[in-house]
Amino acid sequence: MSRAAGHTPAARVARIESLSIPLPQVFDMRPGTPLARLLPLLLACWLLALGGCATVGHVDRAEVAGKTYVVTGASSGIGRGVAEKLGSMGANVVLVARRTELLREVAAEVQARGGQALPVTADVSRADDMARVMRETLARFGPIHVWINNAAVGTIGRFVDVPLEDHARVVDVNLKGVIHGSHVALRQFRQQGFGSLVNMGSIESESPLAYHASYASTKAAILALGRALNEELRLAGLRKVAVSTVMPWAVDTPFFQHASNHSGREPAVILPDDPRKVADAVVWVSLHPREEFPVGWKANLAYAGHRVAPDLSERLSADVMHRYQMEKAPPAPATSGSLHRPVEVGRGVDGGHREPPGAVGARPTVP
Ligand SMILES: NC(=O)c1ccc[n+]([C@@H]2O[C@H](COP(=O)([O-])OP(=O)(O)OC[C@H]3O[C@@H](n4cnc5c(N)ncnc54)[C@H](OP(=O)(O)O)[C@@H]3O)[C@@H](O)[C@H]2O)c1
Repeated sequence: MSRAAGHTPAARVARIESLSIPLPQVFDMRPGTPLARLLPLLLACWLLALGGCATVGHVDRAEVAGKTYVVTGASSGIGRGVAEKLGSMGANVVLVARRTELLREVAAEVQARGGQALPVTADVSRADDMARVMRETLARFGPIHVWINNAAVGTIGRFVDVPLEDHARVVDVNLKGVIHGSHVALRQFRQQGFGSLVNMGSIESESPLAYHASYASTKAAILALGRALNEELRLAGLRKVAVSTVMPWAVDTPFFQHASNHSGREPAVILPDDPRKVADAVVWVSLHPREEFPVGWKANLAYAGHRVAPDLSERLSADVMHRYQMEKAPPAPATSGSLHRPVEVGRGVDGGHREPPGAVGARPTVP
């Protein structure tokens, strides 16, 4: 059977080619084309732009001096770094955590740097304790400018291998603790007509990691809480009250010494950031509220990657976590860390993960 001339396959291809709109040459990405040659440069610019977004602006001492800050989890790590930074800027700092002797040490440091300090021993998972923190703060310093819910604990391991009481405690401290703190803070801010609430999330608020299931869930919930609260504040017309969620990448703090760990291996701490840079970011955002605030280029890249391609980014990060947490990390015994009661170890701002191997205080970091 003969075909009409215009219906042969060759004619159809020719017609489609004539109909197709050629992409301008500028979008041609074949090797050797101008765009292909420019691609590494464009990628570098994009990374720099992300880094730029994450760069916190300068904070003048005058912006902070005399203001009252409540910082939970102030006995070590980022919270201690924030407290010390605020001290050097002349703030009144209320230091909250369970280890009283460390809070006294941090209070002395804050005062030595020029600030005022009030240590209050409290467990954030107890609503009564948070109400007491509020009462003691008001009695000592009057109105509160910034409340930072920073205290948290973590648990590492296959979800089914981690005891249920550790998962439950992570929720009690990380989520209920933030709800308790946010409740007392926002009631006070509403009465005052101003205030900045800063909640410590994590990059895991956006992009959860395998073997961190309950921790990641609490951090995602903290981000959702902040978004919902900002809507309520807008609807209530409270323009001078805002909630920020800070989202750091892994940070070199004692967090991993304090975490519950049922993975059978040392915690994998991948390319951790400097805790003092995160502390600076927390101080900056307390004055320039941002609903979501990924800190540093790694967190910004992970955040953008998860927004654009969530399944791919989760698959890649899970594969990396599996390799470094479950296969490559040295063996370690099971522990509930500092979840149920505080521990002696892990007292400074730094965790020692960036120290060269073998140095005093060095702790394993992968890769
Ligand atoms: N390190 C990281 O890789 C990383 C990454 C992203 C986000 N973060 C977040 O950063 C925040 C600070 O953690 P960090 O890295 O600085 O670790 P950290 O050194 O272990 O600090 C946690 C702080 O929370 C306090 N805390 C724990 N349980 C508490 C409770 N029930 N009541 C009151 N205080 C309690 C701890 O002090 P006591 O034991 O004295 O109570 C300590 O001061 C957390 O929200 C964490 O999720 C950390």
